[in-house]
Amino acid sequence: MYLALQPPVAKLSDLNGDLIHCWEIVRDHPAALMKSLDKHEFGSEYYYRLRAIQPEALGPVERASRLIYLNKTCYNGLYRVNRDGRFNVPFGSYERPPRLYDRHNLLRISEGLHGVELTRASFDDAVSDAHDGDFVYFDPPYHPLSKTANFTSYTEDSFSKRDQEKLADTVHELHGRGCLVAVSNSDTPEIRRLYRGFRFQALLATRAINSKGSRRGKIPELLIYNYERRVVRAKGTE
Ligand SMILES: C[S@@+](CC[C@H](N)C(=O)[O-])C[C@H]1O[C@@H](n2cnc3c(N)ncnc32)[C@H](O)[C@@H]1O
Repeated sequence: MYLALQPPVAKLSDLNGDLIHCWEIVRDHPAALMKSLDKHEFGSEYYYRLRAIQPEALGPVERASRLIYLNKTCYNGLYRVNRDGRFNVPFGSYERPPRLYDRHNLLRISEGLHGVELTRASFDDAVSDAHDGDFVYFDPPYHPLSKTANFTSYTEDSFSKRDQEKLADTVHELHGRGCLVAVSNSDTPEIRRLYRGFRFQALLATRAINSKGSRRGKIPELLIYNYERRVVRAKGTE
């Protein structure tokens, strides 16, 4: 969303400190990051050795490089951590070494992130200073479509039903403050209930990541928003 809009001032945040750290390195040290990514080996033994290293024990660039390497070579590109916050996804069964980065794309994103404030924060803390006229977009862990599809563990604390309710309360509060708000989530009766009074658009979103191959591809998703659609447009689409 940020890269599509590229507003002059932006703040991006996530509760996952490793993810925010990685974006900081992409923004500030793209050349060193690519150099480090080029040094990785491909294979399960190397993967499990790197996975076992605590990110805090590595230097800043190596820590970001480890996250990207694990993300690209793990099973189905999943991100899941155990109760202690340790990444625990097994090695992926790739025939050939997956490409860890696209040089042109990484440099373009690095450039696009210049001047952006990146913070590790919970969604409610991240928007505590949002005011009238600000545009706020939330891409939270999705409400599970079924009881078994409950993958929401991006951080050590999984995103519960109570978290979905708290997020909806925050969104209603931002609406009251005069912010323009958009939220992506799964299209379930529960989510439609939490955001009653908002505008809805059902979308088919492309999902490349799912533990079940059959669930990859286009899946139904809900865009929840509180503004006239013409207010927010991606650059070049006017
Ligand atoms: C569907 S993913 C969004 C990923 C991100 N928009 C992107 O494109 O890379 C959900 C994100 O919510 C984050 N998250 C989980 N609980 C959170 C919380 N309480 N506050 C803020 N972010 C949270 C996760 O770490 C995860 O990165």
